[in-house]
Amino acid sequence: MCGIFGYVGDRPCREFILTALKALEYRGYDSAGIATISSKGKISFVKKKGKVANLDDLLSSLPAENTVGLGHTRWATHGVVSDRNAHPHVSQKFAIIHNGIIDNYLELKESLSSSGFSFETETDTEVILKLLEKNYSKELGIEKALLKTVSSLMGSFALGVMVLDCPEVLYILREKSPLIIGQGQGENLFASDLVALAPYTKNFFFLEDGQFARIKKDSIEIKNFDGSVCHPKVVNLSDYELSTNSKGSYEHFMLKEIYEQERIVSSHIEMFYDLAFEKQRELGVGLKDIDLSKYRQLVMVGCGSAYYAACVGQYTLEKHFRIPVSVFLSSEFHQRKMHVGSDTLVLAVSQSGETADTLAACEYAKSTGATIIAVCNTPYSSLTRLADFTMYIQAGTEIGVASTKAFTATLLALMTLSYSFAKKLGTLESDELSKLIQNLKALPEKIKDVLSCAPQYKELAGKYSNCGNFLFMGRGHLFPIALEGALKLKEISYCHAEGYAGGELKHGPISLVTEELPIVAICPTGVFYKKMFSNMEEVAARQGCIIAVAPRENKEVKGIAETVLHCPDVDDPFLQALVSNITLQFFAYYVALKLGRHIDQPRNLAKSVTVE
Ligand code: AGP
Ligand code: GLU
Repeated sequence: MCGIFGYVGDRPCREFILTALKALEYRGYDSAGIATISSKGKISFVKKKGKVANLDDLLSSLPAENTVGLGHTRWATHGVVSDRNAHPHVSQKFAIIHNGIIDNYLELKESLSSSGFSFETETDTEVILKLLEKNYSKELGIEKALLKTVSSLMGSFALGVMVLDCPEVLYILREKSPLIIGQGQGENLFASDLVALAPYTKNFFFLEDGQFARIKKDSIEIKNFDGSVCHPKVVNLSDYELSTNSKGSYEHFMLKEIYEQERIVSSHIEMFYDLAFEKQRELGVGLKDIDLSKYRQLVMVGCGSAYYAACVGQYTLEKHFRIPVSVFLSSEFHQRKMHVGSDTLVLAVSQSGETADTLAACEYAKSTGATIIAVCNTPYSSLTRLADFTMYIQAGTEIGVASTKAFTATLLALMTLSYSFAKKLGTLESDELSKLIQNLKALPEKIKDVLSCAPQYKELAGKYSNCGNFLFMGRGHLFPIALEGALKLKEISYCHAEGYAGGELKHGPISLVTEELPIVAICPTGVFYKKMFSNMEEVAARQGCIIAVAPRENKEVKGIAETVLHCPDVDDPFLQALVSNITLQFFAYYVALKLGRHIDQPRNLAKSVTVE
């Protein structure tokens, strides 16, 4: 949610702030803006509603020689999407950029208004600017003014502040929104995400909540909000950890990321199973040493696709862990304040590791003494720093706002985690494990089969692009896949779609069945097949239109469905879920493509949701 970037050095910076904003754009694309400051202290800025590219033509109005600057891509929380509400917000003395939400902005605005301050925007951010103006004087100094300002704020913020009176310095402040400092040679930078810093340095400081930094070209000073000095260690990251992603010849990142799944599965197998299970590499950070015997319950939390992945993972974890396993939407778990404590193991699932709801859920759980395992894609993210252990899903940077490869990689990680727990607990016989591994090793071929069907999926999905509504149904492991399939379709095509458990259809949604409503039926192998088939019969009996996800060889399904999206049989329900989901990713992608949607950056969304 919103990307922020700043630079202090000797290089003219307007162009590369723009480049950094383009790299950060997946975090928010409602508007973008850049401010730079001259060595004499003159602030210049441009800002514009819409994509970062809208700044291309405005850039020349910023002085070419300025070497200190800030940039922002917005995901609006307060105030409409407009030029005026775009960041930076600039006054006579300051320019500020903000990621987060100021919960008490209305009270602050009221009190500032009654002291004579007027407001030009509808954003919560502007109260920070006005407070700063109110609090700042040369005598007090900027640092004290900043600390006084943030002491009045409730909510979350990553702030970048440019000060007219000290043009060679940028200040940044963090409370519950990510901020990373990149240390360069004779230049320093900051951003909300490594992706924007990776081209310039491999050395980083990760700011913690309640810290701020004073950044000059040749120095970085980090302090706590109480004024005490911090001495964090610089973190040196490898090329692998900093690997970014390019679209290559693919039309969209999403399509590229769908195709990457075969490789991700193969390398997961190589990493965890080709080596003898005994000798496998460290499972995750410290996980081999975890003492599982003390836990009485396992709680999984996540949002959106991460939540649905956790719902699939629940099946295998509860089978192998043999303690109660529950899954919660992070936001609900947090609100509910349910009983957790030191006998609770929390698995927090998050691709970005920056999702505010999941972080809040973990903070709450941790405060009760629970142990947190992060299942995460992003090294050094806020979640992995908060967690006691991390299992990295190793999907590589995911740029498409609609999650695809991270979902698959999360399923694999949860499966491997559950086998490994089972092994520690002695709940998995070695012949059962061998069978599971055999199925897993057959997976890349099955995925290859799905990928090779892309042209058919394209043609078939195209037929349904004008249907505004869809129902997805699945049973068992495929129920969360129905939910995920529906989420993917609505995210990128803007069609209304809902996921149901096959058995639930007759309890209500069957009243929606008409010839015009496509019902996507995800067909299982094994025990649930007959039951799912009955559910399809119930739809067919009412002249409903069925799109089945099933092997093309299945004559029964062919006889009843209007369309079959081929998906090979997989001899394991967990892996069947993983493969069926890839078919549905293609379906969503091709419906959205036909409708001409902004697939990688769908309206109103952002990749990383850093506000609650
Ligand atoms: C997935 O397609 C979504 N864009 C979204 O639901 C996402 O999965 C959710 O916001 C959680 O993100 P996280 O995994 O980074 O925590
Ligand atoms: N709350 C601020 C706004 O709506 C910042 C949003 C963001 O994080 O992008 O402008």
